Amino acid sequence: RKFSRVESGADLLEFLDRGHSANMENRFTFEVAWEAANKVGGIYTVIRSKAFVSTEELGDQYCLLGPYKEECARQEVEECEFPNHSPVQWAVNAMRSLGYKIHCGRWLVDGNPQIILFDIGSGAWKLDEFRQELWEKCNVGIPHLDIESNDAVILGYMIAHFIAEFRTAAERYSKDHGLSEAKIVTHFHEWQAGVGLIAIRTRHIDVATVFTTHATLLGRYLCAGKTDFYNNLDKFSVDEEAGKRQIYHRYCLERAAANLSHVFTTVSEITGYEAEHLLKRKPDIITPNGLNVKKFSALHEFQNLHAMAKEKLHEFTRGHFYGHFDFNLEKTLYFFIAGRYEFSNKGADIFIESLARLNHFLKSSLPDVTVVAFLIFPAKTNNFNVESLRGHAVTKQLRDTINQVQQEIGKRMYDTCLTGCLPEGRDLLTKDNIVKIKRCLYSLQRSGMPPVTTHNIVDDWNDPVLNSIRRCNLFNSVHDRVKIVFHPEFLNSTNPLFGLEYDEFVRGCHLGVFPSYYEPWGYTPAECTVMGIPSVTTNLSGFGCFMQEHIADPKSYGIYIVDRRFIGLENSIQQLAQYMYDFAKLNRRQRIIQRNRTERLSDLLDWRNLGIYYRQARVKALQSVYTDYVDEAGEMFFSRTSNSFNYPRPMSAPPSPSSSRHTTPAPSVHGSDDEDSVDEDQELHELGLNQN
Ligand code: UDP
Ligand code: G6P
Ligand code: GLC
Repeated sequence: RKFSRVESGADLLEFLDRGHSANMENRFTFEVAWEAANKVGGIYTVIRSKAFVSTEELGDQYCLLGPYKEECARQEVEECEFPNHSPVQWAVNAMRSLGYKIHCGRWLVDGNPQIILFDIGSGAWKLDEFRQELWEKCNVGIPHLDIESNDAVILGYMIAHFIAEFRTAAERYSKDHGLSEAKIVTHFHEWQAGVGLIAIRTRHIDVATVFTTHATLLGRYLCAGKTDFYNNLDKFSVDEEAGKRQIYHRYCLERAAANLSHVFTTVSEITGYEAEHLLKRKPDIITPNGLNVKKFSALHEFQNLHAMAKEKLHEFTRGHFYGHFDFNLEKTLYFFIAGRYEFSNKGADIFIESLARLNHFLKSSLPDVTVVAFLIFPAKTNNFNVESLRGHAVTKQLRDTINQVQQEIGKRMYDTCLTGCLPEGRDLLTKDNIVKIKRCLYSLQRSGMPPVTTHNIVDDWNDPVLNSIRRCNLFNSVHDRVKIVFHPEFLNSTNPLFGLEYDEFVRGCHLGVFPSYYEPWGYTPAECTVMGIPSVTTNLSGFGCFMQEHIADPKSYGIYIVDRRFIGLENSIQQLAQYMYDFAKLNRRQRIIQRNRTERLSDLLDWRNLGIYYRQARVKALQSVYTDYVDEAGEMFFSRTSNSFNYPRPMSAPPSPSSSRHTTPAPSVHGSDDEDSVDEDQELHELGLNQN
């Protein structure tokens, strides 16, 4: 009865009342990840963005576990002990009494979840014992020199020990308080954390286990080696391929974790297919990645944020291209690619190729438009290069000088007006002012072209991005309509060139381009979508396939899906170049309409709706251990709704000419501002995307 109104994932969350039902059922969830409070890549984003719905649903019956990585944890975790009488604190105390160092507290992210971080160094003295156990129980031998795997082993066994302690503590607590049997589910992410699952299962610790893979190790390696991956998935000799790449032991850990778990999940169908062949288990459930979507109270606030962030990118552009600043910022578009530096897996190869073609298209057909393409991939560098820093220094000097002159002129005008006279133009700018401005203009001259990279790259001649740029001749010459900026470092607000956090940078751009070949999910285009920024993805990325499945015409919503599956490389490059060119042809009004549409897809990617699959996975795992366990709320939810979204092709535009727009009484989708305001009915027509 109580659940009769549950029709969406969000409704369900409301009923769950911050862990109330988990509390009533004496049910605990531990989520284990190498990237908990440890920023590396997309898994960090999964755990962090999901924290809000996890605590909404499970309250303090939910706890994250991971390695203690000081750099990130010191900034993001508020250390504190849990209540003395709680089983989780008893388990922590038991571990500490054995000499393990453990940091407990709350992660300072939305939802503020409980977190326990294990100091790997403090468990190192047990490494040989753990490795021996792994060998005896699973026949997996870990080489001494592979530090990452050895760390994963230490963490895994520490976590398994902790869970065993927790189980004992929870049993005692339940008995003392007359509660039903404690039900524990542990959810492990990726192979590093997977060792904990292997240890739990081989030690027969009686808790439910879920394993989620966000990519397979072998898949990542095979794709990076330019293999025709998807057409040969069923043919690889997995042991041999892993052996050749010296990752056999890691591969074994991953495969063991996947096969030992009660429930196995992958982040997308395409990774499920990969897992079936490479890990030899089909996922039981697909758990797509969501985001913690924040709605603004003013509907079009995200448009204003775009304009504000874009202004900061303009400031960067002025500095970077000083002396060659011969393009119009009003007609400049910012495209970008970003992520871990996996050159071909992330599609940087085809992005640069397609940019070269776009350069050609623009030169011949749209010469007044300039595209500045940013490539953000962390590589080894010796800091910023002098030329980039100099550009920002000279433009700053010019700006300061102009501001000073402006103030002086204002004062002169004021004084002249006080005498009752009208200021004369020629009296306003003094000789001294002119000299100062000329000096700035001279320092704005430069002999070479604006650099294609902002940093000194350590292995410059072997760097794949730089080599492609060289091959495609994209050197930022005055004739180029596509300008390149390779920023080989992730962004943060203390960066002297941009002074922007990554998400603000994304907001300021016009188009994210992520033409990945290997991408189990791909958060970067999803993040663009919830910020209302159109993006390019592919039909080989989990995100791209997910959008294709739920939206009738993704392109009209600003989701351009490049085909990397059914056509050859050359055709994919052409398609990408064409998409970028089509985008460059849109005018401002059309871009605004498209951003509105893109942002409307946010619900589809909201954890409030996608978190339900995690719940389903946990329930299924619990039922394999606690056979009479029933999830009343969840079952009701699934019987009432398919939880599926459907974004139909947007309504076709009426045939009214655009000149009638100003008199159209229909409300605008973008406030009432004249030039920028648009009538939604015109959308398809304006975008030139209607197929009717
Ligand atoms: N990212 C970041 N700073 C940057 C560029 C990227 O924090 O300058 C983040 C981005 O927000 C995203 C993650 O890195 O959440 C990359 O995740 P994705 O799933 O796209 O790829 P992965 O690295 O996991 O393969
Ligand atoms: C947002 C702002 C507008 C601005 C526009 C620029 O919509 O609200 O005031 O004109 O962005 O769009 P553009 O695609 O040219 O960066
Ligand atoms: C992995 C994948 C990426 C995915 C992320 C989170 O790192 O490479 O595609 O988005 O995990 O699931």
